Amino acid sequence: MTEKDQALEQNWLGSTESGEDLPDQDIPEQAMNPTVAKQLIQHFRLNEAKADQNLTTFCTTQMEPEADELMKEAMNTNAIDKTEYPKTAAMCDRCVAMIGHMWGIPEDEKFPKDYIGTSTVGSSEGCMLGGLGMLFTWKHRAKAAGININDLDHHRPNLIIGSGYQVVWQKFCTYWNVEMRQVPLKKGSDELNLNIDEAMKLVDENTIGIVAIFGITYTGAIDDVQALDQRVSEYNQSHPDLPLRIHVDSAYNGFFAPWVSGFKPWDFRLKNVASINVSGHKYGMVYPGIGWIVWRKNNYDYLPKELRFSVQYLG
Ligand SMILES: Cc1ncc(COP(=O)(O)O)c(C=O)c1O
Repeated sequence: MTEKDQALEQNWLGSTESGEDLPDQDIPEQAMNPTVAKQLIQHFRLNEAKADQNLTTFCTTQMEPEADELMKEAMNTNAIDKTEYPKTAAMCDRCVAMIGHMWGIPEDEKFPKDYIGTSTVGSSEGCMLGGLGMLFTWKHRAKAAGININDLDHHRPNLIIGSGYQVVWQKFCTYWNVEMRQVPLKKGSDELNLNIDEAMKLVDENTIGIVAIFGITYTGAIDDVQALDQRVSEYNQSHPDLPLRIHVDSAYNGFFAPWVSGFKPWDFRLKNVASINVSGHKYGMVYPGIGWIVWRKNNYDYLPKELRFSVQYLG
């Protein structure tokens, strides 16, 4: 470090460089002193940088210093390229294995032989992947049942969900041209979760699945997944060709409910629950960004072949 840099580090506020603006349109002509750059950025996002007051994610997002060190050491890996970083990928797999068992996958079933899943960028990506799993498996089941899935006038796929959904479900339906069939939350009543009777009335042969929200962002209520599963079982008995599936969006409850008593079964203990997503950070003291999705079976009927990718050229 030069003498000037040292001086800047101690007292950057009075320096000429501290008068510089953070660029917002073009890459600047001149380099900026790194100490000044760092401090300008720190000031710019000061109000957002207090992890123990990070209410925007519902919770605190600070962690132990050891976690900081591990994160720093891993910063130079591009974890999305799993073939390049097999040890990092193996650690991810261990987490999926544990989460699956935490959510009721029987102990004698093993990851990845019997069930499958992955880390995601928050629940936002987890929900997207859950939706894709439902859409693509529906296409296969519908085709086998003789439905012309290319006839979108009559067979546009639809998804049923309570209207207290998080915006990611709207994105999923928009990106993939899926009709979102919303079940309204009743105004002025105690019914701040999914009305199962109303949800079942919306089901038809083009329904890719029902999303149960196990922790509704707006109301704090939870959908009754057990009651929904019961109704779906009854429906499936009379519709063996096109059985319905449930995806549970447990963004902020999936790491909570397994550890407290009083919740009715909501997870893979229920037979029609095909997949579950969760956010890593919604119960506090975890850095944000990570999420997870687990499918109850590792077979093409739950996660079709075309959604699985094998990469040969990395690594
Ligand atoms: C029910 C629900 N689903 C999905 C999400 C998206 O989660 P994330 O912020 O981890 O992407 C949220 C976040 O608020 C949520 O509450």
